[in-house]
Amino acid sequence: MCGIVGYIGDKNVYPILIKGLQRLEYRGYDSAGVCIANTGLKVYKQKGKVSELESFVASKDVHGTIGIGHTRWATHGEPNNTNAHPHTSMNGSFVLVHNGIIENYAKLKNDLVQKGIVFQTDTDTEVLVNLIEYYYEQDGIDSAEMAVRIALSKVVGAYGIVVLCRKEENKMIAARMGSPLVIGIGQGEYFLASDASPIIEYTDSVIYMNDGDVAILEKHSLTLKTVENSPANFEVTKVDLSIGDLDKGDFEHYMLKEIFEQPKTISDTYRGRINPQKDDIVLGGLIDVWDKIVEARRIIIIGCGTSWHAALVAEYLIEEYARVPVEVEYASEFRYRKPIIDKGDIVIAISQSGETADTLAALKMAKQNGALILGICNVVGSSIARETDGGVYTHAGTEIGVASTKAFTAQVTVLTLFAFKLARLKENIDQETYQLFIKEMLAIPDKVESVLLAHPKIKEIAKKYKDSVNALYLGRGYLFPVALEGALKLKEISYIHAEGYAAGEMKHGPIALVDDNLPVVVVSAKDNYYEKVVSNIQEVKARKGNIIAVVTEGDNGLRNMADDLFEIPESHPAVAALLTVVPLQLFAYYIALMRGCDVDQPRNLAKSVTVE
Ligand code: G6P
Repeated sequence: MCGIVGYIGDKNVYPILIKGLQRLEYRGYDSAGVCIANTGLKVYKQKGKVSELESFVASKDVHGTIGIGHTRWATHGEPNNTNAHPHTSMNGSFVLVHNGIIENYAKLKNDLVQKGIVFQTDTDTEVLVNLIEYYYEQDGIDSAEMAVRIALSKVVGAYGIVVLCRKEENKMIAARMGSPLVIGIGQGEYFLASDASPIIEYTDSVIYMNDGDVAILEKHSLTLKTVENSPANFEVTKVDLSIGDLDKGDFEHYMLKEIFEQPKTISDTYRGRINPQKDDIVLGGLIDVWDKIVEARRIIIIGCGTSWHAALVAEYLIEEYARVPVEVEYASEFRYRKPIIDKGDIVIAISQSGETADTLAALKMAKQNGALILGICNVVGSSIARETDGGVYTHAGTEIGVASTKAFTAQVTVLTLFAFKLARLKENIDQETYQLFIKEMLAIPDKVESVLLAHPKIKEIAKKYKDSVNALYLGRGYLFPVALEGALKLKEISYIHAEGYAAGEMKHGPIALVDDNLPVVVVSAKDNYYEKVVSNIQEVKARKGNIIAVVTEGDNGLRNMADDLFEIPESHPAVAALLTVVPLQLFAYYIALMRGCDVDQPRNLAKSVTVE
């Protein structure tokens, strides 16, 4: 987490830094700060969001054309002004912004304290900036860059850093290990950021830095080398992102905009992947590896948060139609629990950002164990995407709301296409069924559109339940992960305690929560589980719970049982997750809005989780 930005060139740096930090605020918003080099290194930092930094800086001298900035998601040390980045070394020679965690900071700090270095903050970052200064002051160290490299060679952990040196004011030094950094190449100017969004209005030429590399940036020169001082390999690429993607448009929040974008993002995700005859699915990023996938002994899917829910939908689909055993795991568990992985396994990582630390580490571990590793990511060029043997990008566009919506439906779209294709390749479904599935998928965007049209009704229903303390979400089959996702949306942004459960498990615990104050959201479709879900609803009704049912249009049976209804158009059960999740996203959104919550930036969360 944390967002970092830097600029060196002829432009006035402060507005570039502030705008860049606003774009990166999804990565954390506990505090923000900038450092501007202008005959000395001037640091301004403030607890809270970037807007609070702006007010604080309003009357300060921010002239200068070289600078760095940071927006923080606190790990070491509470979010306050002192712990905010940038951090300055004891003698003021260096100022640094950091994304990541220095794992051996305690030992390093101890060593530095023994040498007389005094610390001001509780952060791991202050250790690194002092370590750099310590080496800089030693005999035989002739440049800031050399001091940075030596300090980094002592560090264990993850970092994306940008460093300014008082005595080498015309220079920025950046380094990456585990936390992303992108260099933007302009005319006589360079940009640095945690992702390309702060850069795109100035240049589309970028370099995604590799782990272990150090960049030395001056106005007219860029040198990339490794921490060990060898030349680094790099590639200049064009970034495919437009500023329009980063705007809220006419919507009050990014989350609402992103929910409403789903008809388009789903069709963008399957466009070009279903052939013009509509009788085959072509996933370009897997062409070279289908043979191995078809032969796979087992598929393991890893992810975190919403991406993990998308993985669960895939488990049901792949096992039912392709008949390949699938295991779905939280990346954070998988990476540490010594799982059995070998050459016959396919490991698929699902990640919107492509940067989630646990997912990336789990994937690397699977690769080392000989598995074929695939990625389903939204951010092009992200670390996970670059690590894999093959994969499929979701084309959801930039997702800014911290609570994931359109990325989820894009992930489910890709995974559904994957499951259908694999089922056909393994000849577990015939061509007629395959084509029926393709047709069902092509119909989804219009159906999502019709669900969205019901937003005033969903808002009305949300009004009834906005003061709830708890909520239960139930579903079976493909709709069990949707229940989990609906509950996650509600708790993330409205802070109402919500639990998602497999409906059949209700009687093993959650039923104890049911009383006349408890909203129970039941996700249903016209599928094999329908009758079972009806029984579960009866059980809740018998205990006076309030039923909010997601039902297929025309389902009069449930209409009479439920207190409130979200209707969705009829579809094949295999694609129903893509429809049923939409009213739940809107329900959570309106409840959070009515409770006065910060929908796009909920407390304590961040969108890109680059620390463990
Ligand atoms: C965070 C975000 C979630 C996201 C999860 C996994 O918790 O707030 O929205 O689902 O990370 O992120 P990824 O980028 O790997 O999908």
